[in-house]
Amino acid sequence: MRRVRLAHPADLEGFRHALRALVAEGTPPAEVLWETGPQEALPLAEAPGLADAPPLAVPRRFAELAEAVVCHSDPARFALLHEAALRLRADRRLLEDRADPLADRLLALEKAVGRDIHKMRAFVRFRELADPEGPHFVAWFEPEHHILRANCGFFIRRFANHRWTILTPEASAHWDGARLHILPGATKADAPGEDPLEALWTGYYRSIFNPARLKVAAMAGEMPKKYWKNLPEAAAIPGLVAAASARTAEMLEAGQPADLAGLAAAAARCTRCPLHGPASRTVFGEGPADARLMLVGEQPGDQEDLEGRPFVGPAGQLLDLCLAEAGIDRARAYVTNAVKHFRFVATGRRRLHQSPDASHIEACRWWLDQELALVRPALVVMLGASAGRALLGRPVTVGRERGRELGLPGGWRGFLTVHPSFLLRIENPEAAAAERARFVADLRAAQALAQARAA
Ligand code: URA
Repeated sequence: MRRVRLAHPADLEGFRHALRALVAEGTPPAEVLWETGPQEALPLAEAPGLADAPPLAVPRRFAELAEAVVCHSDPARFALLHEAALRLRADRRLLEDRADPLADRLLALEKAVGRDIHKMRAFVRFRELADPEGPHFVAWFEPEHHILRANCGFFIRRFANHRWTILTPEASAHWDGARLHILPGATKADAPGEDPLEALWTGYYRSIFNPARLKVAAMAGEMPKKYWKNLPEAAAIPGLVAAASARTAEMLEAGQPADLAGLAAAAARCTRCPLHGPASRTVFGEGPADARLMLVGEQPGDQEDLEGRPFVGPAGQLLDLCLAEAGIDRARAYVTNAVKHFRFVATGRRRLHQSPDASHIEACRWWLDQELALVRPALVVMLGASAGRALLGRPVTVGRERGRELGLPGGWRGFLTVHPSFLLRIENPEAAAAERARFVADLRAAQALAQARAA
């Protein structure tokens, strides 16, 4: 049995180092005992002979997956990754095959870690400590997985100019304004109790709470009750929920303006999925807040990513032509995408489009929901399978469901058709013209439906 000791439970560097050596020496996963030591003290991989193995030739996707999966609390995570690394040598597409139990399990672990990272970003609440050296903000948080280190970059960017400490049971992170220190774990008793800022925060939460956007099920999903105990504002939630419908009516009567600009500003900081990293910017939807027609594409392309606007590249130009042929004024429609960041693979100087995964679509669905709630379109035209998946919440086959009105979860009405880039890919000129005419006919039918519903 090989014993491998990693410096801490989410020690990616140590894991990579050990994995290379284990693969090079041909040790099977069942022969390895993975241990994680107290995070601050132990060497990366202490078993002899685990030093200088060459890098593994694994797909990039594996590296991305491993980065998340090592943070999971499942004790089998290292062995599962080890097994996947071995199988990937013969089957490079293993991780795309959800029917494979190993791939399925690893992807589920990755997803759980992503959710936990997001929850921590949303639910950490700092309390100010009285400190003679100046303000020091301290938070207590209980993540489900070992995500503290993976999340420090986010908190550093957000609160770079403050001194802060996040205490968790497994480890703590302290930012002194210039450097990050990872310290031992703590208990809730180590964190400061209620402070005067708390009343301020609760008051602020009440004031920003917008009942028109309240969806209790979605809120429970986004903010599970187990997090409420450490959230000062949570005490306000039940009352706010109960009063929501009355307040919605009041706000509508008061003509409260819809706030797409605020939503776009919030989305510009979105880190819900890894796509925000390589992309240049969030490309949010655009168009009037009272549009009857909402057009939803897949994701921004290269040009959209550079310009920051949806559908301005080749597919967008073709869409504009087809909309005009169908008698639809693009300026009166709300145009957006299922995923707001460009996903690509870089090859030399080119960035090649890659379709988003279901996980990206799911992460971004939150923004689409907010756009729907603010625009309240009579009809949502889903351009292609990714948009269909985002809005219908399930995989779709465009050929089977295109061209007719569909009910969408949430009560919205939808209409599925092809994506304009499908038309751009057809090489045979006659076939391309026929498909284009069919697309224009779909757009015309959608426009008629939207007009009928809005009348
Ligand atoms: N393709 C899309 O789906 N959306 C865009 O914004 C551009 C190309």
